[in-house]
Amino acid sequence: MNKLKIKLKKSKLRNSLRTFSLILIFDILFLIFPIFTSYAGDESAGEELFNKKCRQCHKTTEQVLIGPGLKDVTKRRSIEWIEKWLIDPKKILNSDDPIAQELKKNFKRIMPKIPEMSTDENRKDIIEYLKTL
Ligand code: HEC
Repeated sequence: MNKLKIKLKKSKLRNSLRTFSLILIFDILFLIFPIFTSYAGDESAGEELFNKKCRQCHKTTEQVLIGPGLKDVTKRRSIEWIEKWLIDPKKILNSDDPIAQELKKNFKRIMPKIPEMSTDENRKDIIEYLKTL
């Protein structure tokens, strides 16, 4: 009887150890996963996107076309601001964002929402390219 109890206890212990180590392994995987998946952006993919979707309105110099020249844009605006802008320009233009208010005053046309800019990957690519200007 006593032996049986000890056996039972041992197997319970073994079971909870197993569960514990499984949880530990999943936790570790969960922690390292983002390191492998976080995407830095690809400058040349960004350039290609820029040529297709932005170049008709933006020069890569300081010169204005329909929109402002984008040289040094990542120096005058924060990456967070550019991200927000690219996702939905109209939303920022209609907010009280001071940069958007200034742009509104200086440009007659408004930048359309570009469907490609709704994905994280495309935005990161474009921003990598903008950093080189
Ligand atoms: C149809 C014309 C048009 C297209 C296409 C366009 N933009 Fe714009 N963009 C503008 C205009 C106009 C502004 C100035 C703000 C306003 O009035 O909307 C602007 C503003 C910007 C700004 C802010 C610049 C600053 O000095 O603060 C960034 C960044 C930008 N555009 C990036 C892009 C990118 C990247 C693309 C392509 C994915 C793109 N734009 C496509 C017209 C366009």
